[in-house]
Amino acid sequence: MGRFVPDVDYRNRFARDRAFRKMTRVLITGAFGQIGTELAAALGARYGSDNMLATGRSLPDGGSPEGLPFEPLDVTDADAVLQTVKRHRIDVIYHLAAVLSARGEKDPRMTWQVNMDGLRNVLEAARRATVAQVFWPSSIAAFGPDTPRDAVPQDTIMRPTTIYGVTKVAGELLCDYYLQKYGLDVRGVRYPGVISSAAPPGGGTTDYAVEMFHAALERGRYTCFVREDCVLPLIYMPDCTRAALGLMDADTSRLTHRNGFNISAMTFSAGELAAEIRKHVPGFVCDYAPDERQAIADTWPRTLDDSAARAEWDWQPEYDLPRMAADMLARLREHQRRTAG
Ligand code: SER
Repeated sequence: MGRFVPDVDYRNRFARDRAFRKMTRVLITGAFGQIGTELAAALGARYGSDNMLATGRSLPDGGSPEGLPFEPLDVTDADAVLQTVKRHRIDVIYHLAAVLSARGEKDPRMTWQVNMDGLRNVLEAARRATVAQVFWPSSIAAFGPDTPRDAVPQDTIMRPTTIYGVTKVAGELLCDYYLQKYGLDVRGVRYPGVISSAAPPGGGTTDYAVEMFHAALERGRYTCFVREDCVLPLIYMPDCTRAALGLMDADTSRLTHRNGFNISAMTFSAGELAAEIRKHVPGFVCDYAPDERQAIADTWPRTLDDSAARAEWDWQPEYDLPRMAADMLARLREHQRRTAG
């Protein structure tokens, strides 16, 4: 696969210059989604809440995360995206608004509009308003049944069979195009399934990995929509945040790739996850009733070769299955206690 030498080197002042960072204005789309909720909080701590603009289609009941400034924004509205970026003099964009894999299959047209038109609108606004950096996440869903299932190479066959996956491959190419043609510093990783204690996933194939925790604590029982032996790569939210920030901070001169970095954190079967949860929730029972999401999972890899991310920007996950499960359950229990009291 052809790669490029960037012709514009923005050198990452954000990473090295604290004073400059405090003047950096950051826009996050999909701020109330599964990744956005925790990433927005981390960005607020890093750049200062006043420098943040959290956007989504509407404000959730709980309000904006960490009380970050909020504006509604529909990413499919090109003019609204450009005007928002200009009005707030945005320097850096984390573009997370997307429709996930399972929901995408129910409405491919809407998925294309949100995922592809939304991305193009953000990249175009970034280019026109001379935004310095954009982060856009790809996914393991960018791979398909022709991709090797294990130790997926960084550069490999990418022929996904879901519309979500199609938008991820096309999105990676579009990001590379904006870098090559316009010098826009857009960066991204291929996230495994994300597990977060703070926000529920919405319509993904890896949602079972989050639902299982909630069900274990609330009912002691869960019916899992993938098989017991279904193995997928997953990542815990603190690692997910560290990946985004680590890549955005990376020294440009070290980057051969810019988008679609494979990152790997942990891999386990649904049955192994249930067994791990059972260590903390004695008597937890998990049944398995695979539905159409199993067919999607069957086209995704089990493990990824993330040596490019490790070599180019020192990617290193911190959470494995036992550490993630213990932390996740502690956080959910704490949340239960707070809401009960
Ligand atoms: N977690 C996502 C999904 O299941 C994959 O990127 O759709």
